[in-house]
Amino acid sequence: MAEVQRTLAIIKPDAAGRSGVAGQILTRIEESGLEIVALKKIRLTEEDARGFYAVHKERPFYGDLVKFMTSGPVVVAILEGENAIARWRDLMGPTDSTQAEPGTIRGDFGTDIERNASHGSDASETARVETGYFFNATEILGAVEAT
Ligand code: CMP
Repeated sequence: MAEVQRTLAIIKPDAAGRSGVAGQILTRIEESGLEIVALKKIRLTEEDARGFYAVHKERPFYGDLVKFMTSGPVVVAILEGENAIARWRDLMGPTDSTQAEPGTIRGDFGTDIERNASHGSDASETARVETGYFFNATEILGAVEAT
């Protein structure tokens, strides 16, 4: 049986700032069978965005990426299901929105490689770190066992 995983999803400011788009993306997630086990809409501070993307701090696009990610609200969610990491990445399409097929989230709502509508964790360990960056156990459905 496939492994049940959790992954972090971010609906980025380019998508979250457009009327109705966050709702459409959340609907696609639910219709795909992934379960949303945590959800909130927040505005990232510069420190939040710098910390989240710290692995990219030497890359030439880091400054612009931080500016973009703090330019408006984002919706962050934890998705759960069998192979959730790969399934969410498939729903999003490739990082560069110009290469993403219509029908994918980046193909339909993204603009380019930076303004790409959404983020997803790339592996189990990253997912663990990224979900913990935004949510504590009391905010995640099923994470705190009843005593
Ligand atoms: P994301 O999946 O959130 O992970 C890192 C982000 O950096 C990526 O989506 C893009 O928004 C951005 N990014 C990655 N590569 C580039 C690039 N070459 N130029 C500009 N932005 C990039």
